[in-house]
Amino acid sequence: MKTSGNTILLTGGGSGIGRELARRWAEAGNTVIIAGRRLDALEETAQGNPSIHPVQFDASDGAATDAFVTTLLDRFPALNVLVNNAGIMRQEDPRSRRDLSDAEATVTTNLLGPIRLIDALIDYLSAQPDSVIVNVTSGLATVPQPLFATYSATKAALHSYTVSLRNRLKGKVEVIELVPPGVQTDLTPGQATRPGYMPLAEFVDEVISLFAQQPTPSEILVERVKGFRFAERDGTVEEKAEILANMPR
Ligand SMILES: NC(=O)c1ccc[n+]([C@@H]2O[C@H](COP(=O)([O-])OP(=O)(O)OC[C@H]3O[C@@H](n4cnc5c(N)ncnc54)[C@H](OP(=O)(O)O)[C@@H]3O)[C@@H](O)[C@H]2O)c1
Repeated sequence: MKTSGNTILLTGGGSGIGRELARRWAEAGNTVIIAGRRLDALEETAQGNPSIHPVQFDASDGAATDAFVTTLLDRFPALNVLVNNAGIMRQEDPRSRRDLSDAEATVTTNLLGPIRLIDALIDYLSAQPDSVIVNVTSGLATVPQPLFATYSATKAALHSYTVSLRNRLKGKVEVIELVPPGVQTDLTPGQATRPGYMPLAEFVDEVISLFAQQPTPSEILVERVKGFRFAERDGTVEEKAEILANMPR
């Protein structure tokens, strides 16, 4: 991926990892369109950054995706990078029957959302020079957090989907997976100050330096996430999942 001169659509740019990436990419000379449901949060990200453009979009609304993309491409015909970062993470207890609406919203937002957006943009991106798709998964894609079973499953599925895309789009669109460890953001209640989670600025510094490598690694793995990413190889998946399930929250 080029480090400057891109026109980037980044979902979930109103907070957390998306907000910081948007700011860093804009400072480096990219145009960044940030999409999310809360316009006020997006506008706060864009404040003082004329190359960040907020656009309201609900990534879980499949019926809205085509119209959103048509308007977007009219306004930003140079678009060459899609970053699927929007996500939700909700605790659940599958040990007895329950209301599945959180689980369903998680699948729709975290998995179907990226699949739909990629589909709506794929013909355009395939014809653009230097085009890139970045999917934000999680260390929990390879070691599930049992208290967030559906969330972990959506990230495992998005990891798998990303590997398939990379194979199918070889030579046309670069496909990169960004795999965060636990990072201090508002993804879940109390997480922004939870000890043991990686400070957001430190995480984004390391991510930006990995994106600057040429060629860019197909998986952006900060040091802290490698134990999770390679847990299957190391035979530590069940053991790590047990630790996660018993961590104080
Ligand atoms: N922080 C971590 O520990 C961690 C670890 C691994 C992976 N990740 C992943 O990193 C990504 C960013 O998370 P974060 O930690 O930065 O949390 P965050 O601050 O909660 O950011 C998530 C963003 O997604 C947006 N979003 C949620 N649902 C949406 C929808 N239906 N349509 C459009 N935008 C939507 C939210 O904005 P609106 O509410 O305004 O829509 C929000 O700005 C997520 O995919 C998350 O799963 C985070």
